[in-house]
Amino acid sequence: MDDDGETSENPYETSVDIFQDEKVLKEDWKPEKLPEREADLEEIRDALKPATRGVNAHNLFVYGKTGQGKTVAIDHEIDLLQDYAQGKDDLNVSVVKTSAHNQTTSYQLCAHLVKEMRGASKKPSGIDQQSMFDLLYEEISQLETTVIFVIDEIDTIGSDDELLYEIPRARKNDKVEDQWVSVVGISNDLQFRDNLSPKAKDSLYDVEIEFAPYEGPQLTSILERRADRAFVSGVLDEGVISLCAAIAAGDEGSARQAIRLLYKAGELALNRDQKQVSERLVYEARDILQRKRIEEGMRRLTTQDQFALLSVVALEVHGNTPARTREVYKKYKSIVAQLDGNQLVERRVRDHLQSLGMQGFVFAETRNTGIQGGAHYRFELNTDLEATLEILGEDNQLSTVVTKLDQIASRKSNI
Ligand SMILES: Nc1ncnc2c1ncn2[C@@H]1O[C@H](COP(=O)(O)OP(=O)(O)OP(=O)(O)O)[C@@H](O)[C@H]1O
Ligand SMILES: [Mg+2]
Repeated sequence: MDDDGETSENPYETSVDIFQDEKVLKEDWKPEKLPEREADLEEIRDALKPATRGVNAHNLFVYGKTGQGKTVAIDHEIDLLQDYAQGKDDLNVSVVKTSAHNQTTSYQLCAHLVKEMRGASKKPSGIDQQSMFDLLYEEISQLETTVIFVIDEIDTIGSDDELLYEIPRARKNDKVEDQWVSVVGISNDLQFRDNLSPKAKDSLYDVEIEFAPYEGPQLTSILERRADRAFVSGVLDEGVISLCAAIAAGDEGSARQAIRLLYKAGELALNRDQKQVSERLVYEARDILQRKRIEEGMRRLTTQDQFALLSVVALEVHGNTPARTREVYKKYKSIVAQLDGNQLVERRVRDHLQSLGMQGFVFAETRNTGIQGGAHYRFELNTDLEATLEILGEDNQLSTVVTKLDQIASRKSNI
């Protein structure tokens, strides 16, 4: 009751009950079982097994698109291995788990590993590469007999990969005496392997496992297991789970995306005081997440990427896509002139367009030109036009051009 005698409800109060155990829908929640990856888990287990015999595990490289359960699968098997080793007195296994995120060279990654292994707050620095590697060997020498490095996002180091053949060879090269060392690398960059030096490839690829993208039914069963715990029984309309699975399967087959979608749909129901999570909310959740994804990606674009994207947007607004590089470049020049930007040559702009293609903002189709030889590209926008204009418009430098395009686009959609 408040002063004038009326009951005032706290706005945080909700009348509906959607989640039973919300944390199960969080990114870092560890599932107990991964039946959809049983065959992959078995391969991982076989690769790690020598560690249970007191020697080095096989070097292992796990790759596949984002959200395929690579990280969670390795975690799962490493946990089981460590449990097993702990139960055996004569088995001594050390695992060093890290992500190469932001470590773009062997030197940086090595410094990062030393820092983590020391439990220090700062990376060592100011020494040459060999001395840095030596610091790592010193750390390794303090560990148990079998040492396994698990390095997630290993592709971050690109082709500066010396460390990746140094670590597995530490014993052979007499850098450490008592340890057997191996590396488990995880990557969602399918090209990383091709760009590795032959030496690194040779020492890193004892076993290679590709995580194939999940299909609809697998995503459905992944979601069902989570939903059983996460949601109050009966709040999900029939078809909601398979819709989330189908949307994710139609995109990248990512379990992460499927889970996020279901979570968002549940949250929308809760915030709107709806008792049930409906398919309509799933579609709405999809649009919100898609937009967020585009926004995040677009906000990270460089100025030249933005110019290139804006050129494709301008052609799209006028109904002139798909457009060849030459046409996009013409547009690009006029936009750069209007915005007083720095003009690149056509070849460089094409590189930017291709990079936009890789990031999913534009669709780049290759066409063969026939007997004259050579392929050419045709570009069109791959994202929602309205949303793209809105996000690009937030950038002050671009706003004059975007406003004009926005007007043209809305005039057209009103006809
Ligand atoms: N088979 C599965 N069963 C249950 N949950 C799963 C399964 N596969 C993936 N997940 C869940 O999906 C999410 C994404 O998985 P994970 O992080 O392992 O993907 P990833 O392949 O490492 O992706 P990235 O390349 O982006 O790092 C996690 O929340 C994970 O728990
Ligand atoms: Mg991962």
